[in-house]
Amino acid sequence: MVNENISPSPDESHRIATTDDIEVSTYLEIAKEIGGEQSAVTEEAVSGAEREAIIVLDFGSQYNMLIARRVREAQVYCELLPHDTPWEKIAPLNPKGFILSGGPASVYEAGAPLAPAYVYESHLPVLGICYGMQVITKQLGGKVTPGTKREYGHAVLHLSQVDSPLFVGLPESTPVWMSHGDKIEEMPPDFHTLAYTENSPYAVIGNGSNIFGLQFHPEVAHTPEGKTILKNFVYKVCGCKGNWTMGNFVSESMARIKEQVGDGRVISALSGGVDSSVVATLIHRAIGDQLTCIFVNNGLLRREEFERTLRVFKQNLGMSIIYVDASDRFLNRLKGVTDPEEKRKIIGEEFIRVFEDEAKRIGKVDFLAQGTLYPDVIESISSVSTASAKIKSHHNVGGLPARMTLKLLEPLRFLFKDEVRLVGKELGLPEEMVWRQPFPGPGLAIRCIGEVTKERLEILRGADFILMNEIKKAKYYRQLWQSFCVLTDVRSVGVMGDFRTYGYLVAVRAVTSEDAMTADWARLPYDLLARISSRIVNEVAGINRVVYDITSKPPSTIEWE
Ligand code: XMP
Repeated sequence: MVNENISPSPDESHRIATTDDIEVSTYLEIAKEIGGEQSAVTEEAVSGAEREAIIVLDFGSQYNMLIARRVREAQVYCELLPHDTPWEKIAPLNPKGFILSGGPASVYEAGAPLAPAYVYESHLPVLGICYGMQVITKQLGGKVTPGTKREYGHAVLHLSQVDSPLFVGLPESTPVWMSHGDKIEEMPPDFHTLAYTENSPYAVIGNGSNIFGLQFHPEVAHTPEGKTILKNFVYKVCGCKGNWTMGNFVSESMARIKEQVGDGRVISALSGGVDSSVVATLIHRAIGDQLTCIFVNNGLLRREEFERTLRVFKQNLGMSIIYVDASDRFLNRLKGVTDPEEKRKIIGEEFIRVFEDEAKRIGKVDFLAQGTLYPDVIESISSVSTASAKIKSHHNVGGLPARMTLKLLEPLRFLFKDEVRLVGKELGLPEEMVWRQPFPGPGLAIRCIGEVTKERLEILRGADFILMNEIKKAKYYRQLWQSFCVLTDVRSVGVMGDFRTYGYLVAVRAVTSEDAMTADWARLPYDLLARISSRIVNEVAGINRVVYDITSKPPSTIEWE
C-alpha cells in the first residue's frame, strides 16, 4: 500500500549535486545555444614535449575516477577513457602505460567488455585492477570462473615476491580492500603470483615483465598502501617523469589561453564559487583586460558575500569587473512565488536576461569562459545525467534573442575539484575562496521557505552569518560539506524578558558528505549548538526558535527546497 503521508515529489530533476558555479555557467550555455554556435573546445591538458599520460580504460567500476585522481596525486597526468576508445584518440596523449579498471561484468559471459588489442600490442605496461585483472587473464590465455562466495571487505596481503617493482617501500604484509565475485582459476602462461591473501592465492600477479594484475582496489582509502603501489607502477614500471604539477598546469594553461584567444575578447560570470573564481583569475593572468567579468548580484547571496568577492577580485587581483546590482529585478519576479521549482526557473531565466543585457553593452565578444570540470566531462561522455544536463532540462528558457554566438573557453575541463583548489592556491586566491563550501545557484531563495522578500532574506542572512561565524570559530568549516540556516514559514510563541513573542522558526543544517549524493548530519558538539542557538535568538529580530536538522540524505535532501 502507498504510504499517503509521504508523497513523492512530482519532479526531482532539480536536485542537482552542484554549486552556483556550474548552475551559472549552465545558464550561460543555454543562452549561448540559443545563439546557435557550437563550442570549439581545443584545450589540452599537457602540451608538447613534456606530455606523458597514464590511461585508465573504464570498465564501469564506481571507483574509476578515484584511480585517475590517485595517479594525478602522484604528479602524473591521467585520463579516464571508455574501455573501447580507439588508439587514434589515445596516441596524441603519449601514453606511458594502461590501467584496466574494475567493473561489474564477468569476463566469461558473452559480450563482456574486453581490452582493445593495442593495449597488448603496444608493449606498454599494463595494470589490471579487479575486473581489469580478469580481462588480462582471459585475453592472455588464463581462466576466470565464478567464485563460490563473494569476497568483500578487508583482507591482508602477503608479498611472495618482495623484489617486484610494484612493491618498493611496502611492508611484507599490508591490509587491502577486496570486492569481487569471480576468481582466477588459472593464470595466463608466463604469469606468477607476486602476493596472496587468505582467500585469494592470486591477489597480485605479473608476467615477469610489465603486465600486472591486482585482485584488490589500490585506489580506495581502505587500502592504505594503494597509493604506493600505483606510484610504483607509474614511476618504476612505466618510467614516468612526474611533470603534472599545478605550477606547470598554470604556466601551460596560460600559454594556451593566449594562443587560443589571440586578440579576442572574453567574458566570464563570477559567482564567488571556487571554479568561476579560478577560471577568471587564470584567464586574467594570461590575457589581462581582454577578459571582462560580470558579477550579478541577484539579491540572494549571503551577508557580505558580494562585497567580499568584489574586493578580492578588484583590489587583490586588479581585474576589471562589471558589477550589476539586479536584486530588485530578481526580487520583483519572485514576488508571491512559493513553489521551489518555480523559484529556480525564474532565477535561471532572469540571470540569462541580465547577463545578456550586460554582454550587449560590452560590444563584440568572442569567448565565454566556463568553469567546466573533468568529472562533468567524463560524465557527459558516458551518460546524459550530468549536472549541467539536468539544469538545462529544468530551465527551458525559450524566446531569448539569438545573439550570443560565443566560443567556449574551458581551461579547467581536465581538472578534478581538488586540483582546482590547488590551482586557486597557486594563483594566490585567498583561503576562504579556495575552500568555500558549495552554495546553490538559486542562493537563499531555496533556503527561505515560502515567499522570498527583502525582509525575510535579511532575517535569514542574520542567522546564517552567526552560524558561519561560530562554525568557523570552532574550526568545523572545512570538515563540513555544507552548513547553513533555513528560514521556515513556521512561527511559534516565545517569551523574551516580560514579553510574549511570535517569531520565525529557523533550522540549522550541517552535513558531512563526499559528493552530495549522500550526506549525514554532522554531530556538532552541544555547546557549539547552544552558542549558535542563543546568539541567533538574541541577535536576530524576528526569530525566536532554533532547531537542528538531524536527518541524513537519503531520505532527506541537503537543501530543504
Ligand atoms: P540536495 O538538496 O539535492 O543538494 O541534497 C545536493 C547539492 O546540490 C546543491 N543544490 C543545488 N545547486 N542549484 C545548484 O546550483 C540548485 O538548484 C541546487 N539544489 C541543490 C545543494 O546545495 C547540495 O550541495
